[in-house]
Amino acid sequence: MSGREPLLLAIESSCDETGVALVAGGRRIVAQAVASQIALHAPAGGIVPELAARAHLRWIVPALREVLETGGVTLPQVDGIAVTAGPGLAGSLLVGIAFAKTLAWAHRLPLVGVNHLEGHLYAAWLLGRDEPERPAPPFPLVALVVSGGHTFLVEMRDHLSYRLLGETVDDAAGEAFDKAGRLLGLGYPGGPAIATAAVGARRRDTVLPRAWLGGSYDFSFSGLKTALRRLVEAELAAAARPPTESGGRLDPPRVAELAWGFQEAVVDVLSTKTLRAADDTAAQAIVLGGGVASNRALRERIAAGAAARGLPVFIPPPDLCTDNGAMIGAAGWQRFLAGERAGSDLGARPAWPLVRPFGTPDTRRPPRRGPAARAYEAALAAERDAAGDVPVAPVRGSAP
Ligand code: KG4
Ligand code: ZN
Repeated sequence: MSGREPLLLAIESSCDETGVALVAGGRRIVAQAVASQIALHAPAGGIVPELAARAHLRWIVPALREVLETGGVTLPQVDGIAVTAGPGLAGSLLVGIAFAKTLAWAHRLPLVGVNHLEGHLYAAWLLGRDEPERPAPPFPLVALVVSGGHTFLVEMRDHLSYRLLGETVDDAAGEAFDKAGRLLGLGYPGGPAIATAAVGARRRDTVLPRAWLGGSYDFSFSGLKTALRRLVEAELAAAARPPTESGGRLDPPRVAELAWGFQEAVVDVLSTKTLRAADDTAAQAIVLGGGVASNRALRERIAAGAAARGLPVFIPPPDLCTDNGAMIGAAGWQRFLAGERAGSDLGARPAWPLVRPFGTPDTRRPPRRGPAARAYEAALAAERDAAGDVPVAPVRGSAP
């Protein structure tokens, strides 16, 4: 179509949200739909992969229909398709990939496979349907991605170019929130529940440990989680209540105080390291993405630090921080511009790293001693094992 910006259909199904969106010119959301599976997985207290894949299958066509309808667009008007190819749950990824490949083939549209983490970064470039134009984030910038499965800090000097500054050596920030939520009896997902509980904290003096990991930009949240567990178990024992795994719960006012203390520790480390990285790299902007970036305390802390430095900060609205299709359209657009195209052999890459593909030099300063250093080594080894693509074999006949 001429006279208008190219229109991408974008599809996200890597985890527990089925996201479909139409994005014009890589920035403007024309329409989007997100079918959330939170209620489906809540009883299990975490994502059940098999259920997730089935739910994607159930909701992907209705989501597409809704998006085309609200956007007033038909498939022949679409110029290309972007789909999340990884990282994520293999079964869930395959639903979106198979769907995207089929649409691309049927409508003779170019296709591109997008890294989900790149999507979280590029959510900061998106504009809402009726939002006034505003400048895109300027380079060089520092970006913090904090999701349920990943936590890392990168420097971007241009589009699609990333220098890894630091990453978690154990739990992702969202994972830590989810585990803390379970410990406090707040249910799943823990992040929003902890944020809500923390608002009601009357006393704000609970201090939980921060892992600074020397001068590095790496993160570690497992010690914080253990400290919270010890505190909760000690207080339950003192109140002669059963331990958490037997259903023991503290009173809501105390839960609120601990939720505040936990959130404060996570936000303190994330914001301090991000702002320091911006200083150290002479960044012109700060970008935030991923589900945990919808946390109000984190947004406010980073925004205040950026304002004190005269730096613009780009944080997507909460519904674009959590998984959605539009962010895949924004990142996919950059991939299209770079000339990338996927073929019918596009497969799922469950462990696809965004930065430091296996074999490229590691420029970080790793922790030298103690459990953080051991966790760091283990994480590197696991990443090396996972770095290869997971081949997706075509299904022929019945399984052996
Ligand atoms: O990016 P996302 O939607 O999915 C992944 O790619 O992982 O992130 C989900 C994570 C969950 O761990 C959830 O607890 C966390 O983001 N989260 C939050 C908040 N909203 C979602 N964490 C802290 N505060 C929030 N308000
Ligand atoms: Zn995500």
